[in-house]
Amino acid sequence: MTTQTDAAISPKPILELGTAFFAARALQAAVELELFTVLSDGPATEPEVRERLGLHERGSRDFLDALVAIGLLTREDGRYGNAPLAAQYLDQGRDSYLGGWMAMASHMLYPVWSRLSDGLRTGQPQAQGLGDDGSFPRIHQDAAFFADFTSAMDAYTGMIGPELARVFDWSQYKEFTDVGGARGNLAAILTRSHPHLGGAVFDLPNLQPLFTEHMASLGLAGKIQFHPGNFFTDALPSTQVIVFGHVLHDWDVNERRQLVQKAFEALPAGGTLLIYDRMMDDDRQDRALSLFGSLNLLLVTPGGSEYTLADCRVWLAGAGFSEVTATPILGDTETLVAARKAG
Ligand SMILES: C[S@@+](CC[C@H](N)C(=O)[O-])C[C@H]1O[C@@H](n2cnc3c(N)ncnc32)[C@H](O)[C@@H]1O
Repeated sequence: MTTQTDAAISPKPILELGTAFFAARALQAAVELELFTVLSDGPATEPEVRERLGLHERGSRDFLDALVAIGLLTREDGRYGNAPLAAQYLDQGRDSYLGGWMAMASHMLYPVWSRLSDGLRTGQPQAQGLGDDGSFPRIHQDAAFFADFTSAMDAYTGMIGPELARVFDWSQYKEFTDVGGARGNLAAILTRSHPHLGGAVFDLPNLQPLFTEHMASLGLAGKIQFHPGNFFTDALPSTQVIVFGHVLHDWDVNERRQLVQKAFEALPAGGTLLIYDRMMDDDRQDRALSLFGSLNLLLVTPGGSEYTLADCRVWLAGAGFSEVTATPILGDTETLVAARKAG
């Protein structure tokens, strides 16, 4: 049976969406080849770029022009340069460099997303390098993955840190602990922005050497404490402010409730729990980045998902938090929740 094709409905969106990974891979390859960092010295012709990056002539012109077409490069008088977006986020020389996240997308997420149908059928993570229980300690044994993972986290905390330093009123507190704070990038930004704060990181013991190295490289050796531990089996250190950044979404709902309860117990009256994640809107329809982020967590964690602010409020109230406020951050791609323990 044939049906009439409606000529007014263009197939273009399907053709573009179905191969949207072409653009993603071009961006990731450009980061891997350090194209944007090379072009930070100034615009260059195609033969110059080819020479500097060691590319074959067959694909290089198409590659560069495709990057122009998707808005990452400019081309004027035959010279290619970084568009403002690429200059700000894809040049290794900038603090705002997001290359670590692109490297993780390229090396880990791209292969994993080829198994989305399997993940949807089984409900099981599809990432290689996860332990049988999907545990982070096993992930931490894979050095190449771990390098991508830590630089991806730094890429995010490098953007979120200054915003968190600005939007939350830190003046009423003397100390904080970033739980799941990895190698301390966020803690470093917060203590530099608010020198009166005593900062600490709580994370798995195998993060400690990376933390020590990172603090030394930032000139902050000895300034921020590291508490090694497992947040499911160890008590959280007592402190005035606890941060859970990109932590709750890694775990299932019962585990999240458990972590929120532990935070409540570790805080004094008047203390605050800060949570940031890529939360969905309450109707689960607007924030496509969050919805796809949630599918990503299906593929890379045993129980994680993004969640709504309404869900988060229920867990917080269940633990005993009374005053809860929410602020959109990072251009409304993430939500920061502040929950105060009544004092
Ligand atoms: C997705 S990362 C978030 C890093 C950072 N807070 C951010 O905002 O991007 C989750 C962090 O939780 C830590 N983590 C995972 N399981 C843990 C556990 N059981 N106890 C303590 N930390 C854990 C990981 O090592 C990692 O640093």
